[in-house]
Parts: sequence; structure tokens; C-alpha cells
Amino acid sequence: MASTIFSTSSSLPTAVKGLDCNTYKPTLGNLRFIASPNRKSIAVPSSSSPAPKPLFPVVKATSDVPVKTGLSDAECEAAVAAGNVPEAPPVPPTPLAPAGTPVVPSLPLSRRPRRTRRSPALRAAFQETSISPANFVYPLFIHEGEEDTPIGAMPGCYRLGWRHGLLEEVAKARDVGVNSIVLFPKVPDALKTPTGDEAYNEYGLVPRTIRMLKDKFPGLAIYTDVALDPYSSDGHDGIVREDGVIMNDETVHQLCKQAVAQARAGADVVSPSDMMDGRVGAIRGALDDAGFQHVLIMSYTAKYASSFYGPFREALDSNPHFGDKKTYVLWKNGSYQMNPANYREALVEVHEDESEGADILLVKPGLPYLDIIRQIRDNSPLPIAAYQVSGEYSMIKAGGILKMIDEEKVMMESLLCLRRAGADIILTYFALQAARCLCGEKR
Ligand code: PBG
Repeated sequence: MASTIFSTSSSLPTAVKGLDCNTYKPTLGNLRFIASPNRKSIAVPSSSSPAPKPLFPVVKATSDVPVKTGLSDAECEAAVAAGNVPEAPPVPPTPLAPAGTPVVPSLPLSRRPRRTRRSPALRAAFQETSISPANFVYPLFIHEGEEDTPIGAMPGCYRLGWRHGLLEEVAKARDVGVNSIVLFPKVPDALKTPTGDEAYNEYGLVPRTIRMLKDKFPGLAIYTDVALDPYSSDGHDGIVREDGVIMNDETVHQLCKQAVAQARAGADVVSPSDMMDGRVGAIRGALDDAGFQHVLIMSYTAKYASSFYGPFREALDSNPHFGDKKTYVLWKNGSYQMNPANYREALVEVHEDESEGADILLVKPGLPYLDIIRQIRDNSPLPIAAYQVSGEYSMIKAGGILKMIDEEKVMMESLLCLRRAGADIILTYFALQAARCLCGEKR
């Protein structure tokens, strides 16, 4: 199937750069304003305007181009200098305020910020942030089956059959300029072990899917998740010791093998989401040793222990079987994921990831953590990714389904806000819907 791929935002339709889904359509294009006797400004169709004078036709705000007179520039100038001024639409009368409006002196303001927001043209000209389908990374859930299974807590999302539904979804995304995806596998329970060894099986679901996608869509940017949770019989991102400790260095060893298996299959960007210490440097070394110097690492730099991941865990059936993901030792308060109360700690992670060679720094969740995105933006020259996670998606969807909010507008605003906070790319389950909207397609 032929896919339209937008390589740069400049090749996108104008609507892509604004917040609104639809292109602004001027509605007064073929109307002009005339003064009525009671000074009310009314718009009438231009066809009722008087016939043009012989020398200069009236310049109207209509789609008709005035008939040319054939006069030279000098003749035009001479006519004006002789007082024969061509007719143009009159200055529109001052619009009337409703009866009872208080008559007040003008406020002595040197600056009125509303001026730059006066018209759609001015508003669009001064828009600071833009968003394009090229900024989206589309997270896709895959499984071994052939049917697509709906995910209850994420309306509109499916566990896609890796050989059928997935291909169709990727083709649809590419058609509206989304050319980056990230894969999340649902692994059969029978393949899960405490040490998550299926994670680096070169014939496993993820490597197999990458090879197939690269074969069908060579230009597709494929991101992968590097963490043990889909493969762990305990549902945790790392190996859990008898006493509940998540074993850092041993887990990193497994993650390196996982990243290399994904790179060998053709992954463009490997994304460690596990939050083990030292994993970025170790994965960089492992990739380089195996000849994958060109593969990028997108590090989940600031991944918070968030309840917004709930629907995702349902999607992959990856709820931790005991404990939560906050702690170093599972049953004590004592983490691998960061404490939502912490701001400055994100900088510690930034410095580690930068020095270990991360190419992209990711913040997760997105909307509740805009301050963290901005902080990292201001403190690192590296590209920033924001993950609008499952709970954020589900809340907007639920609000839309219940008709409590305008789903499409809230979706676009939330994405624009992530960009404004400093995100270059956004991982979002809305990628296809939002890109369609930006391209002027209705759902
Ligand atoms: C785990 C992982 C999680 C998500 C992405 N990778 C969940 C977790 O930490 O439990 C969450 C994504 C989402 O909620 O959309 N490696």
C-alpha cells in the first residue's frame, strides 16, 4: 500500500501546526460591511454593491478581481494626483456595544497582550509551539494470536495479532505521517521465568515482529522496551531475590542481552524502562561490542512509580504478583521507580544517563510531570521524550465517552502542552487519532 510520509513538518498541511483540528475557514470572505442608518454594522452580500465607476472599479473585499483599466502606473498616479481617487470600501463603522454598557475612559495601558491574539491569522503567526505527526511514537501491544483483542481499560486500544492487525495499524499510522512505533509484547505465561530469559530469545515475539516490520516497512523507526516485566514470572522489571531485593547488576546483565537481541532483529531505538542503575552505560557497551554502534538508546530517565500505569498492566497482564515497583526491597519502604514527590532527583538520573551515553531522555508519566520535562529541557541539550501513559489516555477517553469533555480537543491540548513543556517526541496511544486530526481527517 502506498503510504504518505511526512518527512518534515513544513510539508504538512497548515492545520498541522495549530492546535485546532480543522483548517480555519474565513467566513466573511465574500461579504463587505456597510453602515445601516442606526449605525449597526451588518454584513451584506457584495452582489448588492453599486456598479463600478468608469475609471476605477471599486476595490471590494470579494473574490472577484476588479476589472483592469489598462492604465499605466504613471497614468494611475496622475489620476490620483489630479484628485480622481479610485473608490475603495468605506472604513467600517465602529461596532455598537450593547445598551447599558458603561462609558469609561480608555485604560492607560502601554501593552495590551490581547492585540496579538486578535485574529486567527495573528494568533497563528505568534504560536510558539507546533505539533506534527512526526513528533509521535505510537505504542503498540502485540501478542501471538491472530485476532485483535480489545483492552478493556483502554478504549480504542487492542492487543494486536503480530502478523495481521499490527501490520494494518502500522500502515494506517504511516498514512498520516506517524512513522515511529514502540512495541510491547504480551508473552505467554508458559515462557515466563524468574530470570526473564525469553527477553533475549532471538525467535521470541519481539525480535520476530521487528524483522517482519522491517521487511514490510524498511523506513519505519522501531523503538523497543527494554525491561524484564513481560517475561518475568514475578511481573517485575528485574530479577527478584528470595528476600525481595530486585537485583540490580544481574538484571542489567539480562537487559544487555535483551537490547542486543532487539538490535540484531533491526530495532532502531532501544528504550530501557526498568530504572536499574548503570543500565544505559552497560547497554551502550553491549551494543557497541556486538556491532550496533548506530542503535540509539532512549533512556527512561525519570520514570516515576505511578498509578497512571494501571491500564497498561492490564493490557499486558504484567501486574507485579507481589509488592509494588517503588522499592529496592519489595516489602520495605525503602526503588526502582522514582518517588512522585521528588523533583531534583530527576537531575541525578539525567547526569547518570548523559554520562553513560543516552541519546534521548524520557520522562514518564507525561501530563502530571510537566515540571520534570521542563526541568530536564532546561538542564540537558539531549532530545527529550514524554510518555503520555495508559492512565492519562484512559482518563481522556472515559471523559469523552461520558460526554464530560470534548475528547478530541482535550487530546490535542494535552499533546500540545507536552510539547510546550519541552518534549521533542511524545509516546502516545493517541498517535493515530491525533495525526488523523492534524491531517484534517475526521474519525
Ligand atoms: C514496564 C513499563 C510500564 C509502562 C511502560 N513500560 C509499566 C510499569 O512500569 O509497570 C507503562 C506504560 C503505560 O502505562 O502506558 N517496563
